[in-house]
Amino acid sequence: MSRFTRRHFIKAALAASGGVWVSTPLQAMTRPELPSEVAFRHGVASGDPLQDAVILWTRATPVKSGESGPVKVIWELARDSAFKEVLRRGNAETDLARDYTVKIDVRGLEPGSRYYYRFIGATEQSPVGRTRTLPEGGVEQIKLAVFSCSNYPAGYFNVYQLAAQSGDWDAVLHLGDYIYEYGANGYATEHSAEIGRALPEDNAGELLTLTDYRKRYALYRTDTGLQSLHASAPFIAVWDDHEISNDTWKGGAQNHNEGEGDFFARRAAAVQAYYEWLPIRPPAGERHPQIYRSFHFGGLVDLHMLDTRVIGRDRQIEFADYMDEKGRFDSESFAAALADPGRSLLGKTQFQWLADTLEKSTGRWQLLGQQVLMGKMHLPAEIMVNFASGKKSTAITPELIALKAASMKGKPLSESQRARLQQQLPYNLDAWDGYPAEREALYRRVRALGKNLVVAAGDTHNAWFSHLKDAEGTLVGLEFATASVSSPGMETYLGLDEQGAVELARGMPLLIDDLQYCNLHQRGYLALTFREDEVQAEWKFIDNIRSTEFAEAAGHRVVHRLA
Ligand SMILES: [Fe+2]
Repeated sequence: MSRFTRRHFIKAALAASGGVWVSTPLQAMTRPELPSEVAFRHGVASGDPLQDAVILWTRATPVKSGESGPVKVIWELARDSAFKEVLRRGNAETDLARDYTVKIDVRGLEPGSRYYYRFIGATEQSPVGRTRTLPEGGVEQIKLAVFSCSNYPAGYFNVYQLAAQSGDWDAVLHLGDYIYEYGANGYATEHSAEIGRALPEDNAGELLTLTDYRKRYALYRTDTGLQSLHASAPFIAVWDDHEISNDTWKGGAQNHNEGEGDFFARRAAAVQAYYEWLPIRPPAGERHPQIYRSFHFGGLVDLHMLDTRVIGRDRQIEFADYMDEKGRFDSESFAAALADPGRSLLGKTQFQWLADTLEKSTGRWQLLGQQVLMGKMHLPAEIMVNFASGKKSTAITPELIALKAASMKGKPLSESQRARLQQQLPYNLDAWDGYPAEREALYRRVRALGKNLVVAAGDTHNAWFSHLKDAEGTLVGLEFATASVSSPGMETYLGLDEQGAVELARGMPLLIDDLQYCNLHQRGYLALTFREDEVQAEWKFIDNIRSTEFAEAAGHRVVHRLA
């Protein structure tokens, strides 16, 4: 290959990969070129670790006003935080076409190793980031921190800060709602001005264009808690709906209408900005919205990150579609629609991929990192009808909890009381509960393969622990769901004070058969520790998101040992 054509090839390859610089050991110590004058205002990040590779990320903002051409930076990877032993160094160029973000896919690294990295411009250096490659072979334990639903106008990202200070994570799992698409008067913005988290004027509308989405990421990345967490551990991220628009499915979204233009153009813009700003290595390249992919933590944990939103989800069904004008609910048509085996959350291709991947994966634990609750959350129908008709009142819920508690203590119930408890409806049709046939198919596969299944979920803004049971009632796995970083939870939806939320959380596992624990009012994250014969889930909470002053609150811990 001549010099000219090789250059051409590299250029073409970079264009195809969306401009991700792939570094190999051969390029290890290229002579640094003179870097440009840039500022590192959005910190550094790393992500998608493999046994021999990790993505390094920064944004190099040109500091000379009016500059729009390409800028150059130098990156370094070292064994130590003082950079006495620099192992790799390279040049990277970025420009407006990728919003001045820089992504380096550093290859040829050692497994299970800690590394430090930084970026260098003409007049300043980035903060130093710490990262880690995936281990190989036998591993004693794996510690993961799990997050979802960080909403800038709703509060400060103290939850990220707590995790950055608390642990030495093998990886951080982000299950989506990393940003929210709403405008300045939208969801969860009520206190934004008073706490100093109002959306800036040039990004105050609902996100629709590439520029809108990019600015939102840039805003979120000014949060010091988020910057700290990114700099402390590699992220493994998937989007939920709000990286695009509320209740996204494969052909649209609840929060998208014709007046907002073509849904797929909007989605492409959202996906592009996500890939630019997240340290992710999309398996089908930076132009393709496929993000489901696997990570292998030695022989201990196989992690499969799923997309329950964009790539394959059929449209959600809604209770409202089965109500007539008089508010009567057509339960038969509803049940038939819900049970339709043709409806899919993952899409056929992803489901098949997951089934095949689970079969091939030999790790002690199979962990699914995904968005929406998989556990069955069926509530007495009268509570759901109350919800669906927009009533916030929860008076009937304590009544039903008391009834259930009495029946569990052996108190005989009247026929009508029994009916009140037994007539049940799924709480959230946007979750796996809205796609029960596919969930059952997944459970069948997991049982047939005899895997130890753990599912991590986000999306709801509250903390949950459920036994995953199939239609026959057999335990198939465990689901641990994380509270939100800052988005409001059930306490706000139901207008509950702290005591009310605590009481309801105590009663919910009585009402919902497979539910073991929940927290309905605190912001936090989930720490998962895997060992050969046990998994430990620890929900960590904080006391405040209205300022950057906060303290850790009491958490909750569950340990599950394999028989
Ligand atoms: Fe959310």
